[in-house]
Amino acid sequence: MKKGWRGGVFLFFGISVLLLLGISGDKNTAVKGKYSDFETPESCAQCHKEIYREWKQTMMSQAYTHHWDEIEYFKLAVPHASRDKEFKEVVEGCNGCHTPIAYFVGDRSPRPPSAGTRANESVSCEVCHTVSGFKGDVPVNFNYLMTPGKVKYGPREGVKSPYHDTVKSDFIQSPEFCATCHNEKNPFGMWVKSTQLEWKEGPYSKEGVRCQDCHMWTGKGVPAVMSKAVADMRHHTFPGGHVMAKIRGAIEVKVYSDEDEYEPGDEAKITVQLYNAKAGHKLPTGSVEDRQLWVEVHAIDSAGKRYILPVDKKGFKGEKYTITSNELAYQDMGEMMGIKDFKGLPRDDLEEGHRIYRIAFLDPRGRPTIAQWNTKTFAVDYRIGPRETKIETYTWDIPEDIAPGRVKIEVKVLYRLLVRSVAKFLRVPEDEYRTREINSAETYIEIIE
Ligand code: HEC
Ligand code: HEC
Ligand code: HEC
Ligand code: HEC
Ligand code: HEC
Repeated sequence: MKKGWRGGVFLFFGISVLLLLGISGDKNTAVKGKYSDFETPESCAQCHKEIYREWKQTMMSQAYTHHWDEIEYFKLAVPHASRDKEFKEVVEGCNGCHTPIAYFVGDRSPRPPSAGTRANESVSCEVCHTVSGFKGDVPVNFNYLMTPGKVKYGPREGVKSPYHDTVKSDFIQSPEFCATCHNEKNPFGMWVKSTQLEWKEGPYSKEGVRCQDCHMWTGKGVPAVMSKAVADMRHHTFPGGHVMAKIRGAIEVKVYSDEDEYEPGDEAKITVQLYNAKAGHKLPTGSVEDRQLWVEVHAIDSAGKRYILPVDKKGFKGEKYTITSNELAYQDMGEMMGIKDFKGLPRDDLEEGHRIYRIAFLDPRGRPTIAQWNTKTFAVDYRIGPRETKIETYTWDIPEDIAPGRVKIEVKVLYRLLVRSVAKFLRVPEDEYRTREINSAETYIEIIE
């Protein structure tokens, strides 16, 4: 008996050790090296002028310093972690992706951007070009292997540099590399970012079209000042949701009515088709807790009067999160910031009744949240997959008093990087929440008497 009991304890102990090892095998939290082991982007810029100029204007060069990142981190995440110690590790971990060098050298509570420390380098040249692979089974939560030193990993074989060694790496050219930061699992085990998983399930992975093919433009360029221009340089522009040229037309839209002519009081059926034509993953992707992608349908009669056409409900579970509403939400922000009796903010801060494409993030009490680290469950995933078509219908009871003549049915596909009510509350600059038009379409019907 006794022996058996002991054996059980041993077995239990052994499994616990294995579990611990297994878990820490995916984690990458040890402190390694010091700032001086890594070079600044400016030192790379001496020779890689063109690439540096490009990178400097992307979001990745501002991943720590950009206003909204600074605000979310310092106004919400850091105070939350100091109130609730359970979140300490995850909040330190923000920087495993947003300013990896700071994280790895042990600068785990970096000073704000205004202090001008090296944390401001964000996702720099040295971060990406010293990565050789990842730890564990799935690329997620900054589990890349970064080794500072003479070797820079790149896409080409046999490239010579007077300054460093170069090694061709298949890994840096793979979507799994991007995924070490673009997939994220939070402390509740939720995949709060899954861009690479979405890509993998979709059609582009089967065709071999990588993240790099769509986000790093290939064309004429000079890789280093002393080398010759090449026709196929990998440009470092990384355009995404912040770049109008990238989002414009990402979704195609068509609209049609079931008849050409109606009388006042008739019922018109309007159909809208949306097609994710350009993105290799779902839309929205990435920071989906912040992003709003929605469709507005309006009718404008011959006298110029505008009517909202609310979308027809389909009746699936959690649908209420996919129809714009100004119900109060984000109450967890009050708890993080220590504001007593915080009632919350309008959930969408938009005209009500329109279809919105999202996966709603819910806090431990089931309320919508924009804090991905505080997300315990998801509501329905109603986003538009790569090359997926979504069809929405609008049943419109044409008012008795509508002006006769031509009625324009106007459809707009709109995008915001951040919910306006949240942005205003936290004083995020307006550029972050202005409405961006992805696409539009129109059709006409005739009202006869
Ligand atoms: C003194 C000049 C110089 C400096 C400084 C320099 N490089 Fe280079 N680097 C080169 C040259 C030259 C090449 C070869 C370019 C070519 O012919 O394609 C190169 C190539 C590369 C490549 C491409 C390898 C490939 O597979 O195509 C990478 C990546 C790279 N450098 C990263 C860096 C990083 C990161 C820094 C800063 C830490 C840096 N370099 C600093 C001169 C420099
Ligand atoms: C987010 C990661 C990332 C960052 C940051 C980054 N690079 Fe790269 N770089 C890549 C990838 C990925 C490739 C190869 C793309 C491919 O071949 O598909 C590449 C390619 C290169 C090349 C080879 C270009 C060619 O076509 O010969 C050079 C040189 C280079 N990078 C230098 C730099 C320098 C200098 C910086 C900083 C100013 C920098 N990179 C920042 C990911 C990055
Ligand atoms: C070391 C972590 C890391 C790696 C590796 C990485 N990224 Fe990023 N990336 C980030 C972070 C953090 C941001 C968010 C910047 C910000 O704060 O807005 C970002 C932003 C972006 C954006 C801009 C999105 C927007 O909102 O406009 C694009 C596009 C992007 N990354 C593509 C890539 C691609 C493609 C690769 C692989 C070649 C890659 N990234 C590798 C961390 C990383
Ligand atoms: C077929 C082309 C294509 C491929 C492949 C692709 N993307 Fe994108 N991606 C786009 C387009 C187009 C957008 C802009 C749409 C938008 O954000 O509204 C985009 C947007 C993004 C954004 C910004 C989302 C936002 O609004 O903040 C990120 C981050 C991103 N992509 C990362 C990746 C990563 C990582 C991969 C690989 C796993 C990848 N993309 C593969 C085309 C592509
Ligand atoms: C596993 C990597 C990873 C971790 C950990 C991470 N982020 Fe991010 N974060 C990203 C990437 C990648 C993006 C860009 C996604 C996109 O553009 O849609 C991003 C985007 C953001 C944005 C939106 C930026 C914008 O320009 O709209 C904010 C704010 C942000 N992160 C804050 C945080 C905070 C706070 C934490 C910690 C609680 C954190 N992140 C943890 C990878 C990470």
